[in-house]
Amino acid sequence: MILGIESTAHTFGIGIVKESKILCNVKDSYTTEKGGIIPMESAKHHHDCAEKVYEKALAEAKINEKDICAIAISQAPGLAPCLLEGMKFAKKKATDLNVPIIPINHCIAHLEIGRITGAKDPVLLYASGANTQIIAYAAGKYRVFGETLDIGIGNFIDNFARHIGLGFPGGPKIMELAKSGKYIEIPYSIKGMDVAFSGLLTNLKQKYDKKTSVNDLCYSLQETAFAMLIEASERALAHTGKKELLLGGGVACNTRLQEMCRIMCSERGCNFFCPPNSLLVDNGAMIAYLGEIMFNYGIKVDVKNFKNLDINPRERTDMVEVNWK
Ligand code: ATP
Ligand code: FE2
Repeated sequence: MILGIESTAHTFGIGIVKESKILCNVKDSYTTEKGGIIPMESAKHHHDCAEKVYEKALAEAKINEKDICAIAISQAPGLAPCLLEGMKFAKKKATDLNVPIIPINHCIAHLEIGRITGAKDPVLLYASGANTQIIAYAAGKYRVFGETLDIGIGNFIDNFARHIGLGFPGGPKIMELAKSGKYIEIPYSIKGMDVAFSGLLTNLKQKYDKKTSVNDLCYSLQETAFAMLIEASERALAHTGKKELLLGGGVACNTRLQEMCRIMCSERGCNFFCPPNSLLVDNGAMIAYLGEIMFNYGIKVDVKNFKNLDINPRERTDMVEVNWK
């Protein structure tokens, strides 16, 4: 049994996995009424809830902690104070239990959990808070075919939400407001395979300040930003010749984005896959799930080497050697 810990940003989560089955997926997330994430406060949140989440995970999985054979920890990328809390907690538990640690790249965990849907060799549209990338696996690595040139789509949506007085996370609230909006023209920004959101963000804020309907802005934000992602994803499918599209990351919870992916895939004769929401947002189960795969390939750090084990806040998806496939 592998216990996985997620702590890269707003969520402290623990999942337990045995033979690819998720036994539990418990989390506690830092949210705000107004304003965005303050890294030190989010880290304090993780520190304060860690033990409680751990106990709850063991209880839900109905296991004894002695059954855990390794602890997987999201080591990269993310907010340094949050990553540090997770690493400290993982080292403490792993030392007490005398089990190894499996260091995990958070973004790759968002991708690998997609296997649970049955996708075999997909193009991945990874749309989360800090990341927006179109990725496919080729020759030992996850290669990035297209990505945002500035901010991640989730941060873009959350930033606009903050501007109009909604708290964090803004994505679900914008999705609701968009339901009764109509289209107004805003900039569509795609350069080759890459997308950009900051011009769009400024434009939306200016329109809001000039009293344009909030519902129309939310609707147009979604239609425009998601269309950019769909266009780049479709081109990646055409270029690679792959026949599957897999959605990942927190923004993938958006039902309009899912619908647009489904339509594009059916028009191209491709299959569309999307994990359940609990596995799309940050969660410990995806860390445990990838942890188990890596552990079975012998990737681990033993207790005696914990002093050399550190966080890696800036590691990129395409820097990781994927030697477990
Ligand atoms: P990263 O994986 O890049 O480090 P993260 O860990 O911050 O990012 P996730 O938990 O994967 O992010 O995703 C969080 C993001 O998902 C937030 O920006 C949030 O607004 C967005 N989100 C959640 N639900 C929805 C929704 N229904 N529509 C749009 N966005 C959503
Ligand atoms: Fe994430």
